[in-house]
Amino acid sequence: MSKAWLIASGKGGVGKSTIVSCLAVALARRGLNTCIVDADIGLRDQDALLGLENRIVYDLVDVCNKDCRLQQALIRPVDLPKLSLLPAAQFARAKELDPKAFRKIIAELKATHDHVLIDCPAGIERGLRGLLSAEYDETMIICTPDDVCIRDAERAVFTLEGKRLPRPSLIVNRLMPELIQAGEMYSAQVVAQTLDLSLMGEVPEDRTIYRAQIGHFSPMDADCEGQRALARIAGRMAGQAWALPAYGTASKPWYRRLFAPRIKEVKRIDR
Ligand SMILES: Nc1ncnc2c1ncn2[C@@H]1O[C@H](COP(=O)(O)OP(=O)(O)O)[C@@H](O)[C@H]1O
Ligand SMILES: [Mg+2]
Repeated sequence: MSKAWLIASGKGGVGKSTIVSCLAVALARRGLNTCIVDADIGLRDQDALLGLENRIVYDLVDVCNKDCRLQQALIRPVDLPKLSLLPAAQFARAKELDPKAFRKIIAELKATHDHVLIDCPAGIERGLRGLLSAEYDETMIICTPDDVCIRDAERAVFTLEGKRLPRPSLIVNRLMPELIQAGEMYSAQVVAQTLDLSLMGEVPEDRTIYRAQIGHFSPMDADCEGQRALARIAGRMAGQAWALPAYGTASKPWYRRLFAPRIKEVKRIDR
């Protein structure tokens, strides 16, 4: 059964585009026909994350305006034919996206793909609202474990609920197990409880994810904990019952606790 996933966040910069591209790569590598719709009009990130920036001819707004057919706008990485990208327009504005035409595009993509992942603009304003009339099977919120992000995520959930979309599941990104262990960071479970959302996945803070981006390769090609966490989430999206790692909450054996590096205390500068 094919699934359209709306992937949103309250705040920007939480890792949404990175996570969407990694999950899509992981799903495509499992042999599932997967399409990313970059709906962050005006900001366009997915082409760069997938190394496809020189291949764009048409974009989402062109398809909506019927300047080209949907198939003409889809681009595919040469080494991953199961993955396709419908790029965002770089010089258009969110209000140029016709909700009816967008709804039709999602329905058309669903008919030819196993998974359609929509990378939404951050926030709850016009950019997101214009996308909400399409039909989605699942919605997901990406959140980092801090109060500001949780508060903004709450508002995004409220916006989705107002449109009677499926209740989102949650991915918590940039978790630091040693801070959680020291009681200085919320665990993914605490964030999920606060937002009253079911937890779909946990991704640790992993500098390899950033380094992969700078090095122009997918974090899914790196041997790192971030890659394993994202592969686990893709498995869950594909219907497998993979357990969550519960970063920072599992109790460590005594010898690990004894030799764990101490976290430096944060000292305020007196001014
Ligand atoms: N788990 C992570 N660990 C380390 N860096 C991350 C992680 N997730 C995202 N990043 C980095 O955070 C930055 C913002 O990510 P991005 O996906 O563009 O966010 P958004 O789409 O929410 O604005 C990027 O530089 C990305 O490499
Ligand atoms: Mg983004």
